[in-house]
Amino acid sequence: MSSVATLKRPEIKTALPGPNAQKIIEADAQFVTPSYPRPDYKLVIERGEGVWVTDVDGNVFLDCNAGVAVCNTGHCHPEVVKAVQEQSENFLHMCGTDFYYNLMPALARKLDEIVPVEGPTRTHFANSGTEAIETALKLAMHATGREKFIAFFNSFHGRTLGALSLTSSKAAQRSGFKRQLLDVTHVPFPNVFRHPFTGERTTPEEASRASLDWIENRLFKTTVPPEECAAIVVECVQGEGGYVPAPREFLHGLRRICDEHGILLVVDEVQSGMGRTGRMFACEHYDLKADIVCIAKGIASGLPLGLCVARAGLMDWKPGAHASTFGGNPVAIAAALKTIELLERELVANSASVGAYLQEGLRKLMEKHDSIGDVRGLGMMIGVEFVTDKASMKPDPEMRNRVEYACYERGLILLGAGFNTIRWSPPLILTRENADVALEIFDEAITAAGQNRHAL
Ligand SMILES: Cc1ncc(COP(=O)(O)O)c(C=O)c1O
Repeated sequence: MSSVATLKRPEIKTALPGPNAQKIIEADAQFVTPSYPRPDYKLVIERGEGVWVTDVDGNVFLDCNAGVAVCNTGHCHPEVVKAVQEQSENFLHMCGTDFYYNLMPALARKLDEIVPVEGPTRTHFANSGTEAIETALKLAMHATGREKFIAFFNSFHGRTLGALSLTSSKAAQRSGFKRQLLDVTHVPFPNVFRHPFTGERTTPEEASRASLDWIENRLFKTTVPPEECAAIVVECVQGEGGYVPAPREFLHGLRRICDEHGILLVVDEVQSGMGRTGRMFACEHYDLKADIVCIAKGIASGLPLGLCVARAGLMDWKPGAHASTFGGNPVAIAAALKTIELLERELVANSASVGAYLQEGLRKLMEKHDSIGDVRGLGMMIGVEFVTDKASMKPDPEMRNRVEYACYERGLILLGAGFNTIRWSPPLILTRENADVALEIFDEAITAAGQNRHAL
């Protein structure tokens, strides 16, 4: 297949999905679990290169989702592919829980240097975001001897049963699974666009005050005695909940509360980490230090890796307490080390500068389209919230879905997050030229979706 590296625009050549895609979608419908939360549109990839995805019918899409915020170095970055190939020729697996290989301490040492945790750290290796969260939950219980947790509404921390007890972004994620496994109490997240209690637009100070007050003056005095609370788990920028950055005063308020009561602050950087927000970790925007940081998604450019990095003193657990056969797979770690090198070399900076450019362009579209109620985010983690009109600010999930579909028809890959938001999470290699093309298509798609209110 010829390279699409120099392409300027998407190329849609068939009806979508095309005939080859159709066959795969049918087989998938028959044999694959229907529990995946796929969007209205159907994309079947054959090949990925940089910001471009070619489907099985030869249609080429501009990818502004990056496999849900994972392919941060772009699809198949040649240096990552080379690192994967080289490691694959040496050994594919040796079970780091029982044997040793240098890649594990090498990555843990690098994380010790860059992860926003005060003082020396240790790292536990797993395979996914939800497993990184499971590790954090077990570690917090083990280290504090406590078992209550505080998490936030609209948060997403994964779908295994422990992590699911924290997750609260959609009822469908919990429906049918009975009572939550862990003792987690949820608190409204300080969304400035929609006040946690009134739903009105508000200030960062007021939103933060409302959420912190709820913890200190309501929960601590009623159902969650602070001396029984093991950890507060938070995303600095809510991901699946709609790409909502937390206010600075809120996160510092959580840090203060944790310090006052011996509670651990667990920051979930699974989606917001690895350069996504224009800094290596979202915590850095806030000068925030966590006790435990969870990492996955973008860490290994598409290979499965989930990491829990904690203050070294917390990882005072005995052999056998927590381990995973595949956790810390050597090929995934080789990809991670190369990914971090590329991020530090140029891609974190590109995420900040092209991300700001993209956000500026999206803000101009907000002025033009009455259906865009809010544009927010950091770096290349940007949310665009759709409303029926700016006067009422009523959420419009149908419009969001139509826009998502209209983008797909025009060759732009975007996905929703939350109820009525489109998330922009492109590969961090996106150029201004790519951003201009994406913005032009997005603009057209919004116009088309607006004219097409009753079509889908
Ligand atoms: C913030 C956050 N935490 C945890 C997870 C779970 O990660 P995974 O799907 O790899 O289990 C996700 C996935 O979207 C996430 O966005």
